[in-house]
Amino acid sequence: MHRIGVITGGGDCPGLNAVVRAVTKSAINLYGWEVIGFEDGFKGLVENRYRILDLQAVSGILHRGGTILGTTNRDNPFNFLIEENGQKEFRDMSAVVLENLDRLGIDALVVIGGDGSLNIAYQLHQKGVKVVGVPKTIDNDLSATDLTFGFHTAVATAMDALDRLHTTAESHHRVMVLEVMGRYAGWIALAAGIAGGADVILIPEIPFKLEKICEKIEERTLTGKKFSIIVVAEGAKPEGGEMVVQKIVPESHDPVRLGGIGNKVGEEIERLTGKETRVTVLGHLQRGGSPNAFDRILSTRYGVAATKALKAGNYGSMVSLQGSAVTTVPLEDAIGELKKVPVDHEMIQVARAVGISFGD
Ligand code: F6P
Repeated sequence: MHRIGVITGGGDCPGLNAVVRAVTKSAINLYGWEVIGFEDGFKGLVENRYRILDLQAVSGILHRGGTILGTTNRDNPFNFLIEENGQKEFRDMSAVVLENLDRLGIDALVVIGGDGSLNIAYQLHQKGVKVVGVPKTIDNDLSATDLTFGFHTAVATAMDALDRLHTTAESHHRVMVLEVMGRYAGWIALAAGIAGGADVILIPEIPFKLEKICEKIEERTLTGKKFSIIVVAEGAKPEGGEMVVQKIVPESHDPVRLGGIGNKVGEEIERLTGKETRVTVLGHLQRGGSPNAFDRILSTRYGVAATKALKAGNYGSMVSLQGSAVTTVPLEDAIGELKKVPVDHEMIQVARAVGISFGD
């Protein structure tokens, strides 16, 4: 092994730069390899856009949010959007990727990404590319790892928002609704709700009833609590229904949420309880900014583990946190099924025990 490539794919996430830095430093310091970073995720791999990552290139990036390499959300070499003469068409560009890797003398690839990017990594591995994945997403919904990097920072951001909403809610005797990310799984809402002392947490895994939310608010009023705090994951759904507006991005045919559920829940609460209600959609504030200490450490451990997995010839794997140990699992185990919150999860039980309602 002489030269390896690094890619950051999918939505950005606090800790990406920390992983890029750790892969680069460990590859150079431990084994004397050269490192190349592809720009804008898989798009750069198809278009052969890259930069050399040496110790200087990754200096001073540990604490920085985003990714110095750039990323795109929806570029897939196996179904790549080509625009020629005003025409758009999707083509399989995987052969071009293999050629580019070959021409650059890249022996192996570290793919830092979530479910979508790791799926692509797995397909490339099946075509003979030596790949190791690193699990990234603020949503923490990737299978085969206890934690993805970025999750803790997103939870800390949401908790900070809840602390701020508490003081204004209390002063104005209002109901405050905070919508957080989590299209498929409610990990951020659950963790932030516990950390931020929410009264109600709504997650995709537990369909809610509006009357149960209102009951909780009324119950608080009866005990002299004139305000309530509600955390809603963007993928939360009412029992037997769908309250969320979706739009379709034409190029990708991927439904993207418009941040509708928080507003909808807020409107209904105000209508049903007559209490003044305000809604905050936290959105991409959860993705931007510096990783916290936990994520800097986890990202660094993941980056070094990825380099070591390549050295050990452990291809087609993903680095993973199991308990407190960083280990590797087959990439195959990580992709496909997303990791939802089990409805009897210990954290759900803890939340219920301290009086948090899930609106069920
Ligand atoms: O996967 C992370 C995530 O933050 C989701 O929770 C959210 O729905 C999505 O990304 C938003 O993506 P985009 O940046 O494309 O709006």
